[in-house]
Amino acid sequence: MNKVSLTVERINPQGTDAIELVFLDKKKQIRTFWPGQFITLLLNIDGKSVRRSYSICSVPEDLPRLAVCVKKVEGGLASHYLNSQLQTGDRLEVLEPYGNFSLNYTNPTLTDLVLVGAGSGITPLLSMLKSSLSHAQNRVFLIYGSRSYADILFHDELNKLQTKFPTRLRIEHFLSRNPHENCRSGRIATESLMHALLSWPELKLDEANYYICGPKSMMDEVESGLKSHQTDASRIHRESFVLTVADNTTESKAPITPRPSDTAVRSAHTVQIILEGHTHTLEVASGRHILETALDAGLDLPYACTMGVCGMCRAFKVQGEMHIGEQEALSRAEIEQGYCLTCVGKPLSDKLVIDYDRS
Ligand SMILES: Cc1cc2nc3c(=O)[nH]c(=O)nc-3n(C[C@H](O)[C@H](O)[C@H](O)COP(=O)(O)OP(=O)(O)OC[C@H]3O[C@@H](n4cnc5c(N)ncnc54)[C@H](O)[C@@H]3O)c2cc1C
Ligand code: FES
Repeated sequence: MNKVSLTVERINPQGTDAIELVFLDKKKQIRTFWPGQFITLLLNIDGKSVRRSYSICSVPEDLPRLAVCVKKVEGGLASHYLNSQLQTGDRLEVLEPYGNFSLNYTNPTLTDLVLVGAGSGITPLLSMLKSSLSHAQNRVFLIYGSRSYADILFHDELNKLQTKFPTRLRIEHFLSRNPHENCRSGRIATESLMHALLSWPELKLDEANYYICGPKSMMDEVESGLKSHQTDASRIHRESFVLTVADNTTESKAPITPRPSDTAVRSAHTVQIILEGHTHTLEVASGRHILETALDAGLDLPYACTMGVCGMCRAFKVQGEMHIGEQEALSRAEIEQGYCLTCVGKPLSDKLVIDYDRS
């Protein structure tokens, strides 16, 4: 995956605990991206190499400028560093845009969109919303949850868009803590979501596409609510920023492959990795993740989150068996088709062959 050097051109405060970072791609290395995709910042914090992904909130026409929004996470290393240390003029190495949670806004028959986000989950949705409004003729309904009125990210920009596109854009704010006029109180829940959607009769709900980004509990609630209202699963798209593992579900998402403990213990497994036409052979110790071993061996494999969320380490399993741990990036169908994630993947069979070129 190509690395690009970006210069911080502007830092705009957003809400109470976030910043928008506007980068300038001086060498114009990023040609385009799909709204909804993210870039991965390659940071050095106190001598430690750290990778963190951030969804792009600008639109392709803004290039060579590109913006992301970083919200502080409690106790978070990179989000605090970026919010407090970064200055205009700083240069950052990033991995070029990536991600399947994306919108083909050039599709002439783009359906109506329902975008449901909470907190920093607004970022990929904002890019989709802006692209869609300027390129298509569809309607867009944004349902956005924040803690309080002051925490709403991109508030001014959203207000301006609503004024500019009064018949095509509707925005409904949900505030979980402090009530405010013209906003719904409480978290986004199925009943209030459906109530909001049905209040716009022109919105073609039976053919709309739904993009959801925010905490897992909110996404699960919205997804099951939509399905209970006969929304086809193929029209529901979701993006996670973090892996949330409930205490009692650690392995209950049923990895398609057997768990390591279910098989005879082996000391090492031969893993062949096909990358850009070359085959690399590794010995991976039992119980170790493939990505971790490959990076230790000096292989430059694509990755970002290392916890099964971003999907950047996705590859295709050509031969052999592996255990895929808790993850959010692949659907059950994709795993059944043979796709895997090397960051949470451990080999089970003596020989395993995985192909990044077929990811
Ligand atoms: C595809 C993708 C897109 C992303 N886009 C954005 C974005 O547009 N804006 C944005 O602000 N962040 C985004 N993130 C999250 C971002 O990459 C970092 O995870 C986040 O900034 C926290 O990093 P940190 O180093 O501060 O926290 P860490 O030091 O890594 O973590 C500290 C603690 O916070 C928890 N944690 C980490 N991230 C989150 C989170 N997002 N919510 C709640 N708890 C968390 C961790 O589990 C850990 O317990 C995205 C992540 C992914 C995978
Ligand atoms: S590196 Fe993010 S899913 Fe594997």
